[in-house]
Amino acid sequence: MSQLRIFALITIASVALLGCSAKENSELTAAQEEAVAERIAPVGHVVKAGQVVAVVSAGGAGRSGSDIYGTNCMACHTSGIAGAPMLGDAGAWTDRLTKGIETVYTNAINGINGMPARGTCMDCSDDEVIAAIDYILDNSK
Ligand code: HEC
Repeated sequence: MSQLRIFALITIASVALLGCSAKENSELTAAQEEAVAERIAPVGHVVKAGQVVAVVSAGGAGRSGSDIYGTNCMACHTSGIAGAPMLGDAGAWTDRLTKGIETVYTNAINGINGMPARGTCMDCSDDEVIAAIDYILDNSK
């Protein structure tokens, strides 16, 4: 009888222990989840900060050649208005490049014949005009 009682006690004790450790585990999981959430939060902030930086640079000096082309050059260089060499017309650009790429850059910056100075992008830096020309040339091979 007393042996049975001890057995019963051990059984109850182990169930209690198991229950305890199981409960502890779930608390740990909750704590881990919280810790993970905390670890993710700063990453979210960094991404947000990065997006702000990207927006600032898009409005500042970092406009890509494709941006400049789409805003300032496309009207003439996609349609060939006034004899503008067209984007994608490899032959037309090869002919123009025979005078040297530096001359082509300078002509676009200063204007030549029907090509207005900087393609009318008066707030474009030389580098931005050049980036737009490189974009045209890259897409005219
Ligand atoms: C109003 C129309 C117009 C716009 C806008 C325009 N272009 Fe042109 N572009 C021309 C014409 C026309 C020519 C051909 C000029 C010539 O050689 O007779 C030309 C020629 C060029 C050339 C060749 C220059 C050379 O030496 O042969 C480049 C490079 C060029 N444009 C780049 C650009 C870029 C970059 C932009 C935008 C920033 C732009 N153009 C915007 C009309 C335009």
